[in-house]
Amino acid sequence: MAEAKDIPNLAELYGQHLLSRCFEPSLLRPIIDSDNYAVAVAALDGIIASSATCYLAYAGSEKFGMLENVVTHPSYRRMGLAKEASLFAMKHIVSKGATHMQVMPNSMNEGLLAFYRGLGFHDRLGAYLRAELSAIPFA
Ligand SMILES: CC(C)(COP(=O)(O)OP(=O)(O)OC[C@H]1O[C@@H](n2cnc3c(N)ncnc32)[C@H](O)[C@@H]1OP(=O)(O)O)[C@@H](O)C(=O)NCCC(=O)NCCS
Repeated sequence: MAEAKDIPNLAELYGQHLLSRCFEPSLLRPIIDSDNYAVAVAALDGIIASSATCYLAYAGSEKFGMLENVVTHPSYRRMGLAKEASLFAMKHIVSKGATHMQVMPNSMNEGLLAFYRGLGFHDRLGAYLRAELSAIPFA
């Protein structure tokens, strides 16, 4: 799970490889400190190579998890890091009572859809993909 010391590296990963613009590091502090967020990080070679965030969201009385900010540094892709980080973050939010997961991919390209299918996101709802808990390959 991300800690305060990870914030500069995480902001750099987001800025360079997720958003293509600077990411303000101070925005991460309340997220990392929140009980309703799980920010998973995989550190390799002294940098944060991959990260995924899941947070607890509400639809009426229903609780579900939103997966977001999934990114791996290009030098470390196809090593299973984003999958592992995503599963770790989602598992944490399931322990808070989420009954399913949603994600809004930043594109519908086949590689990204294949990645999310591997996490159990089989149903498409407009711009969102949905995963039932039974479909997610939790360890
Ligand atoms: C999408 C992304 C996070 C995947 O990260 P990753 O660490 O390389 O993913 P993993 O290694 O955990 O992939 C797990 C599985 O997902 C599938 N997958 C991942 N990337 C894929 C691609 N480009 N094409 C096809 N399948 C892919 C594969 O089945 C892969 O398993 P395999 O390598 O054994 O075949 C990474 O490509 C990335 O950072 N992209 C830019 C940021 C982005 O678009 N994030 C999504 C925001 S919605």
